[in-house]
Amino acid sequence: MGIDVSASSIRSTERLKRKHGLDNLELLQLPVERAAELGRSFEQIICTGVLHHLPDPDAGLKALRDVLLPAGALHLMVYAPYGRAGVYLLQDYCRRLGIGATTPEIQALARTLQAIPPDHPLMPLLHNAPDFGDEAAIADALLHPCDRAYSVPQLLRFIEDCGFAFGRWIGQAEYLPQCGVLASVPHHPLLARLPPPEQYAAVELFRGSMIRHSAVLYPNDRPPRAPIDFEGGPWLDYVPIRLPDTLTVTERLPPGAAAVLINRKSIYTDLYLPVNAQQKRWVDAIDGRKTIAEIESDSTLQAAARVLFEGLWWYDQVVFDTSEATGTAS
Ligand SMILES: C[S@@+](CC[C@H](N)C(=O)[O-])C[C@H]1O[C@@H](n2cnc3c(N)ncnc32)[C@H](O)[C@@H]1O
Repeated sequence: MGIDVSASSIRSTERLKRKHGLDNLELLQLPVERAAELGRSFEQIICTGVLHHLPDPDAGLKALRDVLLPAGALHLMVYAPYGRAGVYLLQDYCRRLGIGATTPEIQALARTLQAIPPDHPLMPLLHNAPDFGDEAAIADALLHPCDRAYSVPQLLRFIEDCGFAFGRWIGQAEYLPQCGVLASVPHHPLLARLPPPEQYAAVELFRGSMIRHSAVLYPNDRPPRAPIDFEGGPWLDYVPIRLPDTLTVTERLPPGAAAVLINRKSIYTDLYLPVNAQQKRWVDAIDGRKTIAEIESDSTLQAAARVLFEGLWWYDQVVFDTSEATGTAS
């Protein structure tokens, strides 16, 4: 089931539906705030790039909470502020000049942007983000009347206020102080001592360029799930599943590495995981069915395997089916 407030968005999704033969996809023109009118509940809801455009984002997220099944999960994506600083400067600039959304005004804006100083905070976005691919996209990014962004603390508050509990980041390595350059800076021990929400907030400030946050949320009254735990938990019974967008690089390796694992979704070049020959064999043995204990049955090697599989989790290389470990559906 897909809903959107805009008839033209629904039409373009109808085209994609036909193109890809998605016969079981129902599409409906409906604002997210009125999701209850569907008269249905869902196991999984994906809401990306929408709530930050609503006049009342809380009303939208609460409406989705009301149609999520108790054991369900929601994938949320909203804008993040610091990487979008240049967008907000230019939005203000356009407001001051009274720039409207007619074709000549958008064309003049696109031409003006070509003259923007090379060190302007908009520059990285202008070059890298799909948001600026064409004139319509420029208009959407710079002339959208309703656009707000959430810092990590604001997002966590938003989630909590709307009846959700934070599950995990989609792309968690960029928020973790044990990943990438932050693992070896002098502040690492200070960061490591903070509770996770404070770590995420600090790492967002350190990285300074996040343009969006994507997270998995659960209803806040759902029975607490056992966290992924490699300290004392039943991690040997976890079934690792490799994520799409992961890449095993075997060229131009650092000394001692048999491969470097990266996730193509990440924009940060420091987020890569070098693995040695033994670790690479464990990675290659992941098939989505075997538990970690089955991948490495020699108990004298399992402590070393633990380090690798925890690293794979942090670095967005795998998720785990924990149903065998916890005796629950995953
Ligand atoms: C940037 S697009 C994101 C599309 C898609 N979810 C994605 O991630 O690629 C934003 C979409 O949100 C839709 N939208 C805006 N306000 C909405 C509302 N109140 N209810 C439902 N959809 C809305 C717009 O029509 C547009 O299609």
